[in-house]
Amino acid sequence: MNILFSEKLIRKRISEISEQISFDYKDREVLLIGVLNGSFVFCADVVRNLTNVKFKIDFITISSYLGIRSTGKIEVLSRFKENITGKDVLILDDIIETGMTLDFIIKEVASKNPKSLKTCVLVDKRCMRKKDVPVEYICLEMAASMGNDFVVGYGLDYNGFFRGLPYICKLEEFVR
Ligand code: IMP
Ligand code: MG
Repeated sequence: MNILFSEKLIRKRISEISEQISFDYKDREVLLIGVLNGSFVFCADVVRNLTNVKFKIDFITISSYLGIRSTGKIEVLSRFKENITGKDVLILDDIIETGMTLDFIIKEVASKNPKSLKTCVLVDKRCMRKKDVPVEYICLEMAASMGNDFVVGYGLDYNGFFRGLPYICKLEEFVR
């Protein structure tokens, strides 16, 4: 089994990123917005690693993928319920590839006039980027040498499956 990001490495990086977020938002109140379904494992780990940050968490459910291909059409299946105006908002997503999804959500949140807006992703598949989207916190970078294959595990799915794997690997390890 060729594991791209081990459980140990993921845990270490989430702890480091959470420490950075805790430092940057120290004694402030932040509204975390998780992008479902993929980010539920990541969000659960980040919130448990935050210290001295008062936060609320809300979610937006987005769909754009069918199998391993983006349909290019971003659909909002359910919208956040918290009031965003005047809040410090941090969006948490599982993976950024083309950037279309995060770009869409950033515009959605920005239109409600937050006080500040930042983004945080578990995995950055940079070589696939089409939109120049600002990402302030990146846990894991998929280097070009790792290829640009579809990955699963740690919340990331293939047609809804594999989200429970404690590590991240290429889908081809399971489906050939
Ligand atoms: P983007 O819009 O191309 O940046 O894709 C981002 C969204 O597509 C993520 O929020 C994921 O839900 C999904 N996605 C992209 N690449 C992968 C992958 O390799 N595995 C699982 N989901 C992915
Ligand atoms: Mg997603």
